[in-house]
Amino acid sequence: MSSDLRISADRLLRRLEELAVHGDSGDGGVCRLAASDEDRAARDQFRAWLQDLGCELAIDPIGNIFGRMPGRRPGPPVMTGSHLDTVTTGGRLDGAYGVLAGLEVLATLRDAGITPACDLSVAAFTNEEGVRFTPDMMGSLVLAGGYPLADALSRQDSAGKTLGEELQRIGYAGAAPMESLRPGCFVELHIEQGPVLEAEGLQVAAVENLQGISWTQVEIRGQANHAGTTPMSLRRDAGYVAGSLARFLRELADDMGPPQVATCGRIELEPNVINVIPRRALVTVDLRNVVEDRLQEAEARLQSWLEQAAVEEGVEIESEILARFEPVDFHQEVVGVIEREARSLGLASRRMTSGAGHDAQMMARICPAAMIFVPSVAGVSHSPRETSLEADLVAGANLLLHSMLSLAESGVAGTP
Ligand code: GLV
Ligand code: MN
Ligand code: MN
Repeated sequence: MSSDLRISADRLLRRLEELAVHGDSGDGGVCRLAASDEDRAARDQFRAWLQDLGCELAIDPIGNIFGRMPGRRPGPPVMTGSHLDTVTTGGRLDGAYGVLAGLEVLATLRDAGITPACDLSVAAFTNEEGVRFTPDMMGSLVLAGGYPLADALSRQDSAGKTLGEELQRIGYAGAAPMESLRPGCFVELHIEQGPVLEAEGLQVAAVENLQGISWTQVEIRGQANHAGTTPMSLRRDAGYVAGSLARFLRELADDMGPPQVATCGRIELEPNVINVIPRRALVTVDLRNVVEDRLQEAEARLQSWLEQAAVEEGVEIESEILARFEPVDFHQEVVGVIEREARSLGLASRRMTSGAGHDAQMMARICPAAMIFVPSVAGVSHSPRETSLEADLVAGANLLLHSMLSLAESGVAGTP
């Protein structure tokens, strides 16, 4: 097998541009929520590229799309992949890069007439972002057997539409049996979405672990009243508690210190008018830590703060867990293969922890898995300003190519 084999940089970069048209937000970014019309258009494009390549195509009941290239021995595939959905104010690379780089790996092998040692497959997982339907990483979580299909399909968006209805509507409620699709080994390529690689002047990272994620929705019910006539001492102000909660989260993270992070990403007030004390607030809380005990400590401190705030302000508070995933250690052998291949491609690398959630963390439940990161310019992501240098995107895809070939040869995915 040729160690000087390289992906087509032009084709990869052109396809990234072509895909970004679907959900183009006009400011350099992309809004392509899971199972929306924009998601359908991106899926159709990806499916057409897989078909052009002559891949075996499969769509499972949660809408995950798979393209598979047969290898020399039977068995589960070495899989790569990521997601096509974005957050509301997303960029062009988060998810799309990993999917299209996987497609590019298969295209490169086909062009070179190379049959890999075992099957290779590329996946586009449904609803990784969890913005429209919670929990996040849903398609890969269902594939891994970590969340019942029926529960996932019945999750509703804020307009009351279920994921199941929406997948039917866009034509991606597939029927392929999941057992036959599960990988023997998984490697995901992604932009870092943080500042570390750029600051250190490195081109790639072998991601060895990923922090735990805890998402909670807090509903605060107080009493609406006149903003001018109600004395401060008689208020039951849901808006005040929501604002205080946002502040508490910052103080919590500061007090616990890195790597604890805490974010209040959404506050909705009712009735949301200038001269009425809010009767209801909906607040989201995102807590993350790479150490499970510390994450549990942050959750416990949040709960006791909520109990105390309810008493002090005379409001009712209910919280609902929207997503909860423990920290993940990736597979040392897969991490080692990525590092070795980076060295032989002359790419400066380091090991690192992922701060973001990824489909690879769900695949790690069922097979050896790890990830490759490439630098994000200025560490910006989940933003229209998200970008990476073309040379880094190409280098990452070449590292993915050689890592997948090496994993296929090594037998990490099954008996060689
Ligand atoms: C997904 O992008 C997440 O980490 O929230
Ligand atoms: Mn992503
Ligand atoms: Mn994301």
